Amino acid sequence: MIVLDEVTKIFPGAREPAVDRVSFQVTEGNICVFVGPSGCGKTTILRMINRLEEPTDGDIYIKGERVKDKHVNADELRREIGYVIQQVGLLPHQTVEQNVALVPRLLKWPADKIRSRVAELLQMVGLDPQEISHKYPYQLSGGMMQRVGVARALAADPPIMLMDEPFGAVDPIVRERLQDEFLRLQKELKKTICFVTHDINEAIKMGDHIVILAAGKLIQHGTPREILTAPANDFVKDLIGENKEIKLLELTRAAELVKPQAELPPALSSNGCCVQSIDPVQRALEIMLKENSDTVGVRDGDELIGAISWAAIKEYINAINANI
Ligand SMILES: Nc1ncnc2c1ncn2[C@@H]1O[C@H](COP(=O)(O)OP(=O)(O)OP(=O)(O)O)[C@@H](O)[C@H]1O
Ligand SMILES: [Mg+2]
Repeated sequence: MIVLDEVTKIFPGAREPAVDRVSFQVTEGNICVFVGPSGCGKTTILRMINRLEEPTDGDIYIKGERVKDKHVNADELRREIGYVIQQVGLLPHQTVEQNVALVPRLLKWPADKIRSRVAELLQMVGLDPQEISHKYPYQLSGGMMQRVGVARALAADPPIMLMDEPFGAVDPIVRERLQDEFLRLQKELKKTICFVTHDINEAIKMGDHIVILAAGKLIQHGTPREILTAPANDFVKDLIGENKEIKLLELTRAAELVKPQAELPPALSSNGCCVQSIDPVQRALEIMLKENSDTVGVRDGDELIGAISWAAIKEYINAINANI
């Protein structure tokens, strides 16, 4: 869907490239997360994808077409790409409604279509249109502003979204809620998303695919599981940091470790001691610790399909560690 082929960006007068021969692909309908330290080129890559910057060398393709050939007119390209800029960037002297309606107004949609779309979008990102439409950005909390930023980028229903640290400026609890809501929304919307973060945990949670960058160079790319189980070098190992096992258990579904048991202990039939087969194994572990139990039942809907044991989790972690 989006392909970068040996893309380099050297800003005028710079000694080192901001982006240095970077190649990767973003699959349609996936979230690809760019992660890396400040100044490693994340924003520059987003800005080259929607042609706010031109690469010094290399090519970018969207749906198989080279953007600089197909979209002679960069404005046209940007209508197909929603952009949540770093630091939200709401226009301070415009209301929430006017901010969200920015692109539809540029596209000259009729006023009533704009109004209903704005209300629909605010609802979609968990805000009450009645309450918030006429407020100004300074009257909103950080979390609300970030939701409005996401609504604005979704306004014209673009197939592609570029999101530059969209949940950066909020506290960890609000951030987690925004992440969960966005993942739920994405299941319906199935946009192709480039998502920037500093935070490896956010990358692991949000990404179908992760691209790790340092000083303009691509260090490693792969699924969160590939990154966690086979870090390419010490830089990636340091980035992953502590609690690698916990992170993996968050990515592994109960269905992968469940063992059918002919006769499950009666305690497992209660809902409190069960997880769903699509739940992360991490949840099973939390229940074991809370209930002081060494097995947790696994349900598929209402049906009890088996159990996960403490021993099975330990075996799984040992096998992963042996691989690294
Ligand atoms: N317009 C510009 N002119 C000159 N240099 C620039 C310009 N934009 C970015 N740079 C430089 O390019 C490099 C990459 O910047 P970029 O903004 O892409 O980093 P980033 O990974 O997004 O960082 P952060 O996490 O702090 O947002 C930096 O060294 C930066 O100083
Ligand atoms: Mg940036």
